Amino acid sequence: MPVLHPVLKKIIFTQEQIDSKAKELGSLITQYYFTKKDSDPIIILGLLKGCVPFMANLMKYIDFPVKTEYMVVASYGMNSVSSGSPQILLDINQNIVNSNVLIVEDIIDSGTTLEFIIKHLKVRGAKEVKIVSLLDKKTKRLRAITADWVGFDCPDGFIVGFGLDYAQRFRNLPYIAEVDIEKFDNYDWKQDIENYCK
Ligand code: PRP
Repeated sequence: MPVLHPVLKKIIFTQEQIDSKAKELGSLITQYYFTKKDSDPIIILGLLKGCVPFMANLMKYIDFPVKTEYMVVASYGMNSVSSGSPQILLDINQNIVNSNVLIVEDIIDSGTTLEFIIKHLKVRGAKEVKIVSLLDKKTKRLRAITADWVGFDCPDGFIVGFGLDYAQRFRNLPYIAEVDIEKFDNYDWKQDIENYCK
């Protein structure tokens, strides 16, 4: 078992569980696009920044021609509550008319980000938009958004790791863990660096 940072309560999903889930999802996604027999590659669209570890892991298990794109859509910034009106900070840099887009998310929460992006992709001419998300927090949903493929149902509480952050920290953890917010807020982050450098 890895040594947990003092502000983390417990591991929710291990690195092994995530990898085996990515493999399973990759195989289902491959099967879906293979059966469609569409002649175009899938445009795998990662929503930065949270998508990075999951997208890198998942893509290895998609055995189908793909192109990759990224978008930056700000909904939360440094806040833990969605602003409700996402803004595009980085858009797809290619023509997506008539293309099959697969959005890769780390987590779906209220569904506000995805609702906004799906509309945007349709306006830009995408033929089909599918969604794969590592985590799904269905209890927090405010919009009628359903993912086509989901890794795990996400428990309530603040979780970090494998792309997910709290105040931009912990995205690099190879597992997903729950944060103790009170400990996080009172933690001496300067001392933290010194602990690592000992
Ligand atoms: C997170 C997450 C999703 C979105 C989900 O992104 O990666 O994109 O929030 O929330 P919603 O369903 O309530 O819209 P965030 O805006 O925090 O950016 P990040 O990927 O850089 O962490």
